[in-house]
Amino acid sequence: MNTPDRQTHWQNVYMTKGEKEVSWFQEAPTISLELIAATGAGPASALVDIGGGASRLVDALVERQYHAVTVLDVSEAALKTAKDRIGPAAHVVTWIAADVTAWKPAQQYDVWHDRAAFHFLTDPRDRDAYRERLTKALRPGGQAIIGTFSLLGPEKCSGLPVVRYDARSLGDFLGPAFRLQETRDHEHRTPWGSSQLFQFSRFVFEGGR
Ligand SMILES: C[S@@+](CC[C@H](N)C(=O)[O-])C[C@H]1O[C@@H](n2cnc3c(N)ncnc32)[C@H](O)[C@@H]1O
Repeated sequence: MNTPDRQTHWQNVYMTKGEKEVSWFQEAPTISLELIAATGAGPASALVDIGGGASRLVDALVERQYHAVTVLDVSEAALKTAKDRIGPAAHVVTWIAADVTAWKPAQQYDVWHDRAAFHFLTDPRDRDAYRERLTKALRPGGQAIIGTFSLLGPEKCSGLPVVRYDARSLGDFLGPAFRLQETRDHEHRTPWGSSQLFQFSRFVFEGGR
């Protein structure tokens, strides 16, 4: 899928569906917060949420006084939903409307977080572009947390095909510069009660050493 088609797809999703009408909605991003805490990050850490959409992770981070958070998403409508919900505190967050595969990172981050965006990249060229951004945007010693459908998870999300991973296949893709710290299986319950199996893996980026 190319960038304009992706934009159209995701803009349409966020403009036509309420927050709780999408399968990936979660009231509390508990596993993400636990894994972010495990990186040793604190309020001053620079963190980017890739494909953050309208997720409540940013709310939770702002509540915890994080003040160097960036949310990137291909859908401006998704970012607007999150901004409007957060209200005045939204000004401490950097909002970037971009396709991650074409993004030019302007700074380095301590933590790269991605819940359910990377797995939509089914074209190897897009995955390579993603990894290139990841290795540019993460400082050496920084950490990447990537949550995807697991090997037993759904084959599609939002009508789009996904690639499913475990820690090993994700690590193989990322390459030797990324050292696995931990991986967790996670069962997500959609707002209508169905079960989706995820894996969340946390890697340290040793590149540049
Ligand atoms: C399943 S949703 C997950 C949203 C959010 N991470 C969460 O946990 O609620 C996938 C998100 O990735 C975004 N997305 C998909 N492909 C993208 C891309 N190539 N670049 C940036 N964002 C993308 C979509 O707009 C959508 O918000």
